[in-house]
Amino acid sequence: MSEKQFEHIKVELDSDNNYAVVSINRPDKLNALHNITLKEIADALESMAFKKSVRCVVLRGTKDYTKKPAFSAGADLSSRGDQELDPKNLMDQSNAMYVRQKYYDIIERFPKPLIAAVDGYALGGGFELALVCDIIIASKRSTFGFPEIKRGIAPFNGGTQRLIRNLGKIRTKTVIFFGEHYSAEEMYNWGVISFLVDDDKFEEFIYQKASWLGNAPTKSLFVIKKAIDYGSQTPLNIGLQFEYLGYGINSQSKDVIEGVTAFLQKREPKFTGE
Ligand code: COA
Repeated sequence: MSEKQFEHIKVELDSDNNYAVVSINRPDKLNALHNITLKEIADALESMAFKKSVRCVVLRGTKDYTKKPAFSAGADLSSRGDQELDPKNLMDQSNAMYVRQKYYDIIERFPKPLIAAVDGYALGGGFELALVCDIIIASKRSTFGFPEIKRGIAPFNGGTQRLIRNLGKIRTKTVIFFGEHYSAEEMYNWGVISFLVDDDKFEEFIYQKASWLGNAPTKSLFVIKKAIDYGSQTPLNIGLQFEYLGYGINSQSKDVIEGVTAFLQKREPKFTGE
């Protein structure tokens, strides 16, 4: 069921399983990311933060594979946006980067589980987009990389900063300095992606994981996500305070009572997200 109409993305809901699917819908450009695309993704997520019926979001590329399967081939190189900027004006250039980074930040801070479902290319800004998601599920035929260096540019929508946190300094520099493509299997072995799935099992696998998260205790997932995302950027003693505070918030949820009661009654819990 389609919700609001967007220009570059499509939003669908699986109301039975409480999750939404946001698909980048630019098959002609392998889902390249214009600022409009990023803004629409950020806007869609912001509105879904308030929707009780959405407890997980899947971010993916369109299933229209007329050209090639792609999550996203990165920044839209055909976009005219940057040409309107004066290349000699440093503030103009920095502000353009500020605008793009802002969308990635909004997407990363989404308070519910966000799955990147990668089938095909996840390059440049597309790889950076997957890196701001909580879980990355990739089909075996997918490829990842930062080709920016081959275009004389740099992966500065968080690429240098987020990849290093998963991959370490040496491998991050190798990936970015040479701009090569890496198979999903390599990324999986390096711990950058969460699940590696056979191409023909990809859709079913996405459905299973999104349904599980859509029916999970949403408030627990919220405090866990924030504790991991922000705790990992602080010393241990401060990170532990996120657990301390998060425990208090989570203990107010109905799902805590349901989870423990169901265990004691030897039945499956039915979490409502409340
Ligand atoms: N921006 C705009 N359009 C893009 C694009 C991008 N980042 N990536 C691909 N496209 C377009 C191509 O121009 C092509 O359009 P056309 O059919 O109208 O000519 C179409 O998508 C298909 O791409 P094509 O290059 O023909 O497919 P391929 O399978 O041979 O190669 C890629 C696929 C992704 C390896 C190649 O397109 C590529 O290197 N794209 C740029 C990736 C990149 O540098 N990203 C970082 C940008 S900072």
